[in-house]
This record gives sequence, C-alpha cells and structure tokens, in this order.
Amino acid sequence: YNKPIIAPSILSADFAKLGDEVNEVLAGGCQWVHFDVMDNHYVPNLTFGSMICSALREHGITAPIDVHLMVEPVDTMIEQFAKAGATSISFHPEASKHIHRSISLVKQLGCQVGLVLNPATPITVLEECIEELDMVLIMSVNPGFGGQSFIPSSLDKIKRVRALALKHDKNIRISVDGGVNQNNIKQIQQAGADTFVMGSAIFNQENRKQAIEQAFLQLND
Ligand code: DX5
Ligand code: ZN
Repeated sequence: YNKPIIAPSILSADFAKLGDEVNEVLAGGCQWVHFDVMDNHYVPNLTFGSMICSALREHGITAPIDVHLMVEPVDTMIEQFAKAGATSISFHPEASKHIHRSISLVKQLGCQVGLVLNPATPITVLEECIEELDMVLIMSVNPGFGGQSFIPSSLDKIKRVRALALKHDKNIRISVDGGVNQNNIKQIQQAGADTFVMGSAIFNQENRKQAIEQAFLQLND
C-alpha cells in the first residue's frame, strides 16, 4: 500500500492569514494541501480560484497542492490551476461533458489526475478510465461545505473502489474527503484509503499540531 498522507483542507483555514495557516499544518506533519474550489454552480458555495493557488506558491509553499475542482465546466479551470502550480487536479465526472478529454488534459499539463465520486455516484464510471487515473477521491459527504458528518456507507464504497483497483492491478491513491476525524480515520484506512482530507478536524482544533499527531498515531497504529 501507499504511505498514508494527510491533506488538510484549507476550506476551514483562516483566509485572512492563509499562508501562515498552511505553513502551520505542514510543519505539523501534513504532507499535502487540499484546495477546495467551489463555483456556486456545481455546488451551492463559492471559495477561491487559481490566483490563490499561485499566491501560495509565491509565498514559498512547495508541498503538493491537491486541487479539488467543484466547478462546472472543468476544462478552463484545469488549465488555470496547472499554470498556477497545482500538483494534482481532481474533478467530478458529472461536471465534465467529456471525462476522458478532461483526464487527458490534466495529464498533458503535467499534473496528477483524479476523479471524484459523490456519495450517490456509482463506482462504475471508474471502469472505463481507471488505467488513466492517479487517484480516486471518494466524497464521504455531499460536496459544498466543511464540517459535515461522515456518511457511514462510504466505508463500503472505499472497499469496492480498492477491490476494483486491485482487479486492474493499479495501485492508485484512494483519498477520502468529508467528515474525516481522529475517531474514524483508522476505519477509513482499514477500508482501503491511503489519503485523508481533513478540514475541521485540524483547522477548527485549539491545538492543531496535536490534532495532526493524533490522526497519524491512529494511522500508524
Ligand atoms: C467539501 C470539501 C471538503 C471539506 C472537508 O466539499 O471537499 O474538502 O472541506 O471538510 P471536513 O473535513 O470539515 O468535512
Ligand atoms: Zn475537497
């Protein structure tokens, strides 16, 4: 299996001091930065665009930036984020008219590519493109907001995606996004995930360093 990675979602950070917030969680041991892009069209909320991604790069942040596009359509945003220094770009298949074309675009631009599955999106969409993917992002809440509760049936979905990947002999990253916390992270790992997006369970905690340590303690147990 792949090494466990915690990707803190900056959606729950203090935007007025974003650079410092990101440096704090990276210093605390998190390896990636999860970057939630919302457009008030594909999801009923609005966050930030590629300029904020460039700003983090210009601020000296070198850690992988894991862009999660909750926008429709996706292709123009893929181009902008690749230029802005994204490391990986994931999008929702429902938001692209030509999924294969969007996947190819991400790869052509030199980024890792992921597909995102909403809670009710069947995993069958992966069957036609898993060979092309570096990552599958499984939503364990409905996209749009931080701080929601983990939907328990996501565990079974993670298992089914891991089984599908194994069937294809593909050691892709399986990332889980929504309601991940120190109490459920072990179960999520045991179901087959290796990448853990955490928003409120890190940024909304009094002692973030300790919150990150507790999560890694569970993962490495
Ligand atoms: C939801 C976002 C998530 C969210 C996770 O649409 O994709 O990344 O910020 O936040 P928590 O961990 O608070 O559920
Ligand atoms: Zn996300």
